[in-house]
Amino acid sequence: MRAFTLGIAATLLTSAVMMSGQAQPPAGKAPFDRVCATCHGDEGRGDAAPRLVPIDMEVDEFVARVREGGGEMPPVSKASMGDDEVKQVFAYLKALSAAK
Ligand code: HEC
Repeated sequence: MRAFTLGIAATLLTSAVMMSGQAQPPAGKAPFDRVCATCHGDEGRGDAAPRLVPIDMEVDEFVARVREGGGEMPPVSKASMGDDEVKQVFAYLKALSAAK
């Protein structure tokens, strides 16, 4: 039953992707582009701030770095990026790191 349900979900997802004509961007891309990309560059490739890909951090360390800032990096408040979004951004950077 579980496999069956997963199969249906996969089919629906595949057709949704095909209908939109392209793969959906990962969840973390929008918040990253909104808050981080101005300094860290498109896809975290670095700009005014150092590149973030490949990322070599644990999620806890990452969340702390984002919330506390440090050095030239300003702290990012929950108002500008929620906790879930920070974790999605982490997953997004991990996925980009794996693709390299
Ligand atoms: C105003 C520019 C700015 C913004 C916006 C910004 N950063 Fe940064 N960030 C920096 C700078 C500059 C550094 C380097 C700080 C240092 O070491 O002095 C940095 C460092 C970091 C580091 C540590 C990198 C390492 O290798 O130690 C992480 C992780 C990071 N930023 C993630 C993020 C994320 C995620 C966002 C978006 C939520 C973000 N930053 C938004 C400027 C920024």
